Amino acid sequence: FRVGWNVDEKDWPLMPALPSYGYGRERKGPRFCSLIHGQNLKDVVITGHNGSINGQGEVWWLKHRRRMLKNTRPPLVQLMWSKDIVITNITLRNSPFWHFHPYDCTNVTVSDVTILAPISGAPNTDGIDPDSCEDVLIENCYISVGDDAIAIKSGWDQYGIAYGRPSSNILIRNVTVRSLVSAGISIGSEMSGGVANVTVKNVRIWDSRRGVRIKTAIGRGGYIRNISYSNITFDNVRAAIVIKVDYNEHADDGYDRNAFPDITGISFKKIHGWGVRVPVRAHGSNYIPIKDITFQDMSVGISYKKKHIFQCSYIEGRVIGSVFPKPCENLDVYDEQGQLLKSGAVLNSTEVDYDI
Ligand SMILES: *[C@@H]1O[C@H](CO)[C@@H](O)[C@H](O)[C@H]1NC(C)=O
Ligand SMILES: *[C@@H]1O[C@H](CO)[C@@H](O)[C@H](O)[C@H]1NC(C)=O
Ligand SMILES: *[C@@H]1O[C@H](CO)[C@@H](O)[C@H](O)[C@H]1NC(C)=O
Ligand SMILES: *[C@@H]1O[C@H](CO)[C@@H](O)[C@H](O)[C@H]1NC(C)=O
Ligand SMILES: *[C@@H]1O[C@H](CO)[C@@H](O)[C@H](O)[C@H]1NC(C)=O
Ligand SMILES: *[C@@H]1O[C@H](CO)[C@@H](O)[C@H](O)[C@H]1NC(C)=O
Ligand SMILES: *[C@@H]1O[C@H](CO)[C@@H](O)[C@H](O)[C@H]1NC(C)=O
Repeated sequence: FRVGWNVDEKDWPLMPALPSYGYGRERKGPRFCSLIHGQNLKDVVITGHNGSINGQGEVWWLKHRRRMLKNTRPPLVQLMWSKDIVITNITLRNSPFWHFHPYDCTNVTVSDVTILAPISGAPNTDGIDPDSCEDVLIENCYISVGDDAIAIKSGWDQYGIAYGRPSSNILIRNVTVRSLVSAGISIGSEMSGGVANVTVKNVRIWDSRRGVRIKTAIGRGGYIRNISYSNITFDNVRAAIVIKVDYNEHADDGYDRNAFPDITGISFKKIHGWGVRVPVRAHGSNYIPIKDITFQDMSVGISYKKKHIFQCSYIEGRVIGSVFPKPCENLDVYDEQGQLLKSGAVLNSTEVDYDI
């Protein structure tokens, strides 16, 4: 496929919308098939002496920006309803859309993979999006792209609730990521089938707008439970830890206004960094409170003097041991020995620095 205006979408077969999304994600109706596509497979290996699979996404990004596409752009590699997948020792670059999208798959390993796209002007070029997947390992990777480097998902609003397949047992370790436009590692915002049992460790996030982000909204339903982040380093990141519950982007107007996602059991340990503007911005809401959150052993050097740099609202949990900068008052404070020093206050006003 040549770069330029020559790409002809008619060369790209159309596929039905994903059942847990209802829509093509960007456009109603069907979506373009990915360059490398598989369904109902077992034992899939994609590897090759660090060679590249280049999606030549430039023309797709341009046509997307000019609203010239009638269907949702294709991922570079998409595997659906498959198991025992290994992607190793290759470089994926310049996908038209997400780079690797395992959908409702089990036992997926991505290791020693480099994923590259321009850090701006390459819309929706997420690195890896495990979506309704179970038993996923992502390790020893370098990802620098134009949207989220890794985004864990599980379907959208009423379609995702009906499909009902969580993403669970996901381990991400020893990866270095950069996302100037979005976030290093995200959960959501499509998470209606639930996301649970995620471990993120030994991760370095640099030159990014946000470090780790959890995003959801009313209408999603589902849950985000038992998520643990440890030994995370932020280097030149605007907002390091972000939880946002009003990400109001919906497939259509048919979402359930009473489908409140449950956010429970999120822990952050050994969090370090420098050049960070806002270390924590965790805002729940009356309908979607953040429950059982832990910050332990955290020291993040800030680059910007502002009053509310550790921002929280509608949040319940604790800080343990040494936490810098000074945590918000909502949280209980324990010493290293587990002794309660101070109970958290119920402070639910949302003070947000919108300029970040
Ligand atoms: C990965 O690719 C490199 C470079 O070609 C090669 O030396 C190495 O043996 C490969 N590793 C594996 C596990 O295939
Ligand atoms: C793999 O290739 C990318 C560029 O395509 C390069 O940046 C990276 O250093 C290579 N990794 C290894 C292990 O050779
Ligand atoms: C997961 O996939 C790998 C690679 O195909 C395979 O070796 C392993 O046995 C699988 N694990 C399970 C539990 O099936
Ligand atoms: C971490 O990943 C890098 C590749 O990104 C690799 O060179 C290094 O050996 C890995 N470290 C460990 C401890 O596995
Ligand atoms: C998370 O792990 C717990 C403990 O192993 C297990 O009971 C639960 O079913 C898991 N959750 C999901 C969604 O797989
Ligand atoms: C939390 O998730 C981890 C895996 O990330 C799992 O080992 C553990 O059993 C889970 N705990 C609960 C209470 O579900
Ligand atoms: C913490 O993560 C970094 C990579 O960001 C790694 O080099 C280091 O060994 C990890 N520390 C521990 C104690 O695992």
